[in-house]
Amino acid sequence: MPKKIGILTGGGDCPGLNPAIRGCVYAAEKFGYQCVGITDGWKGLVEGLAVPLNKEQVEYIIGKGGTILGTSRTNPFKKEGNVKSCLDNFKKLDLHALVAMGGEDTLGVATRFHKEYKLNVVGVPKTMDNDLNATDYTFGFDTSVTSAMEAAESLIDTGRSHHRVMVLEVMGRHAGWVALFTAIASSADYVCIPEKKINTADIVLKIKEVYARKHFALVVTSEASELEEAGESAAMREVDQFGHVILRDRGMGERIAGFIEKQTGIETRAAVIGHIQRGGAPTLFDRMLATRVGVKAAELVRDGQFGMMSALVGNKITGVPLEQATGELKTVSKDWLELMEVLF
Ligand code: F6P
Repeated sequence: MPKKIGILTGGGDCPGLNPAIRGCVYAAEKFGYQCVGITDGWKGLVEGLAVPLNKEQVEYIIGKGGTILGTSRTNPFKKEGNVKSCLDNFKKLDLHALVAMGGEDTLGVATRFHKEYKLNVVGVPKTMDNDLNATDYTFGFDTSVTSAMEAAESLIDTGRSHHRVMVLEVMGRHAGWVALFTAIASSADYVCIPEKKINTADIVLKIKEVYARKHFALVVTSEASELEEAGESAAMREVDQFGHVILRDRGMGERIAGFIEKQTGIETRAAVIGHIQRGGAPTLFDRMLATRVGVKAAELVRDGQFGMMSALVGNKITGVPLEQATGELKTVSKDWLELMEVLF
């Protein structure tokens, strides 16, 4: 009987998960393993839900958004008894190893299972937020920023026609990568990211200047930017099972638009791209990156490198300790903040 590898995808979905599953299954079968899919992230392991997964099933999923395995934001360490269920089901399903594909939350759980319970776990980094350490990029980011860039360019068209200021709110959670890349790539006039509190005098001045010159302007904001005027109490914010503030109701785009209109007297509209940027076919970059990190995960299992994650370092795919990736978030760094100063 071939040894079994379970594959799960957890946290917010993103384009690239399917190519990563495909890469992992192709390599695992080549090395003589059999794969099973654990459905809906850690919830599937808690409940012992597995589906067969083989090369024929994954052959044509490389261009499909989402994840064929389903996902959830379940944290087994949050509810008593769930860790034990995961360990029992790992045995019941007769798994030799588990490949967990996810961001800091999913991989944080993987890290704990390996460290505290010596489970044979390997990680694959994914997140449209690009906020994972120890890897240069995560798949999902390129596709979601490409969608956001196209949305921003559409807003320039309508903003220019109506002589309005347009504000686009993008996802990205507590890292500003999505907003910054979207703003640069779409020639936006201003960008707001969580790493830098919005300077209210500066944004008003810049929008007035830009508007005087071309009679429209585009602002890109992260969902997690901070506007002093917002008067929001952190304590009031709802959190998920991993303790993250749920940002969807903050309405940063609307708030910034309202602020700009009030301060400048210029008609301003806001748009939120939301989950549209989480779906759709992965770009070429994401298909290739996802395939490579998926293949590497199977290699790490074959080599007994548990507690490791496949990562992009330079242009090489390599194994790095899971702990390095999940310790702290990768937020917009000093060199990118300097570039931001030049461009906005
Ligand atoms: O982490 C990915 C992400 O899309 C974040 O950018 C966003 O804040 C969050 O997920 C939204 O989560 P949900 O799909 O649970 O609303």
